[in-house]
Amino acid sequence: MQRMSREEAKKRIEHLRSEIRRHNYLYYVLNKPEISDAEYDRLMEELRHLEEMFPDLITPDSPTQRVGAPPAKEFKKVRHVRPMLSLDTAKREEVIAFDRRVKKELGVDSVDYVVEPKLDGLSVELVYENGRYVRGATRGDGVEGEDITENIRTIKAVPLVLRHGREVPDMLVVRGEVIMNIRDFEEFNKELLERGEEPLANPRNAAAGALRRLDPKETAERPLDIFFYEIMHHEGEHPAPETQWEALHALKEWGLKINPHAKHCKTIDCTLAYHDEMESIRDRLEYEIDGIVIKVNRFEYQRRLGEKTRSPRWAVAYKFPPRESETQIMDIGVQVGRTGVLTPVALLKPVDVKGVTVSRATLHNADYIKEKDIRIGDWVKVARAGDVIPEVMEVIRERRTGKERTFTMPDRCPSCGSQVVREGAYFRCTSGLSCPAQLKRSIEHFISKNAMDIQGGRKTVELLVERGLIRRISDLYRLKKQDLLDLPRFAEKSAENLLSAIAQSRHRGLARLIYALGIPNVGEYTAHLLASRFKTMDALMKATKEELMAIPEIGPETAESIVNFFAEKRNREEIEELRKLGVEMTHEEEGDRLKGKVFVFTGSLEHFSRDEAKEAVEREGGTVSNSVGKNVDYVVVGEKPGSKYKRAQELGVKMINEQEFLKLLGRKPPSHGVKRLSEFIP
Ligand code: IVH
Repeated sequence: MQRMSREEAKKRIEHLRSEIRRHNYLYYVLNKPEISDAEYDRLMEELRHLEEMFPDLITPDSPTQRVGAPPAKEFKKVRHVRPMLSLDTAKREEVIAFDRRVKKELGVDSVDYVVEPKLDGLSVELVYENGRYVRGATRGDGVEGEDITENIRTIKAVPLVLRHGREVPDMLVVRGEVIMNIRDFEEFNKELLERGEEPLANPRNAAAGALRRLDPKETAERPLDIFFYEIMHHEGEHPAPETQWEALHALKEWGLKINPHAKHCKTIDCTLAYHDEMESIRDRLEYEIDGIVIKVNRFEYQRRLGEKTRSPRWAVAYKFPPRESETQIMDIGVQVGRTGVLTPVALLKPVDVKGVTVSRATLHNADYIKEKDIRIGDWVKVARAGDVIPEVMEVIRERRTGKERTFTMPDRCPSCGSQVVREGAYFRCTSGLSCPAQLKRSIEHFISKNAMDIQGGRKTVELLVERGLIRRISDLYRLKKQDLLDLPRFAEKSAENLLSAIAQSRHRGLARLIYALGIPNVGEYTAHLLASRFKTMDALMKATKEELMAIPEIGPETAESIVNFFAEKRNREEIEELRKLGVEMTHEEEGDRLKGKVFVFTGSLEHFSRDEAKEAVEREGGTVSNSVGKNVDYVVVGEKPGSKYKRAQELGVKMINEQEFLKLLGRKPPSHGVKRLSEFIP
């Protein structure tokens, strides 16, 4: 790339930033993107590159600066400009009574309202000074919240600079709801499961957990979204909006995403109809809502109506009926996860929860059971959000008979009987892969589609573990046909298929192998990052916490868990075993396979002309030389090789045939037609 002057770079950087902001607005606020994700990424990449060349031009509001703040020790407390109130909830008749009271107090015949979905997330307050994002806080107790400025900065839908679609006030304080979309939540839960962590009960908990990470990098990894719905404070020359409806439009013009379902209602009947309509589309929305919020539109009316201590007198929440069902806990069982975490599970009298029969529900951990005082025999409310694991929400105390029994976590692992240790809220069996439950889960993960992809093995693995034929992961590669034929329902053909699937899995590459090992906190994506950074298992195993954290996407928790994993003797030995059994442990990136390697060709090749061979090497990042020297890595020997063959022999340079050359290129070697090296050596 041509060298750019600082002035030129500055101009280009400003242009790129304003383009990126415009595309953010089109994408997040208007939901009408003009460019593809790839084009957007290219703009970001160019900006990042320029900022790297001219670091003094980086400003905190640059779109590249969402993540980068160091982890916090704790969250500072911040006082809200005005108390962040919550809402009274009302049933249908109470909504009608609310409308009557409002009109009476104002002494008017008609009042108009704004209705909005009641989003099931966490409310936050954001402060913009002269159009720049400066602070973000949780609601806390309404008066004082926690300073989560850096965490909120990582949410892509939060503009770091307000748009000038309307005069930007000197100071603007807005309130909104941070949510996680249901699809993202399910995806995220899947990842947690794969990492051997506890899945979360619902998107709201996931969003809450994400916002409360001390390390903003970890917040950034979680897919959060936000809708804005309130102007708390407005300071500046230009007049502030006078109604909620105007306020929503103003928010939008500043680039603050508002919910598209908000509506202006002239009568209370309109708000009731809106409630029913939203309830009917509730399950089709991408996020969870639990009702609607009805707000008096005119701010002057709002001021006159005033506030109670905790809630305004100008708004109510009209909630939907809950998605819960009532049933009884017959017993409480314990599940052992891949990393040994014990999860208590309520075994329920089967019950229909929004169209799905539920007979098990998670109780999360011992603290949850204690907090909610859940007992065996209790009648409970069970809920389900989206496709999520059902959860015991609360005990129906009125139905207690006195015959209920309390539950205590076992002090021995239900699968292997060894001692259980307590780690914070979790109980864990620490006997690792000698625990059959953990071994089964680990192997299931190892062979899963995105890991080593050994198909048709799941049920078999269970059996093999139970029969003691598999005691560790590497035993998979030691299986013999007879081992399988001894199992019920295994015939010659199916045994061969499984063995061949196992054999093929040796060549899935480093990234999948890292993922397959099931290192806590290392999902597929992290595994790929590690593979392309370290290239070999050996290099990764030697990596220090600092080296790992030098990868921008890797935080201290993940780095530590990787270091700990490789510090375990048992894990290192297992990797050694896998290596001996022929499992590949290097990373080859396309276009990178022959990086830095020098080739010499002698003799004629069957599948390549000289030029084609040269091109193939160069495409993979290698170079071709005309003469054999000590710097040469491979001499490819074809038919009727010349003097270079002799020279290579003298110097002891590695010689390969065409078949091996193809393999290096990552192409399938043809099964015939290529002769063995020895056949044409003179
Ligand atoms: S207005 C004083 N609008 O509901 C006005 N709140 O129970 C209070 N919420 O803490 C907020 N969607 O977290 C408002 N469209 C919406 C909302 C909403 C969800 C939440 C918010 C608040 C709680 C009040």
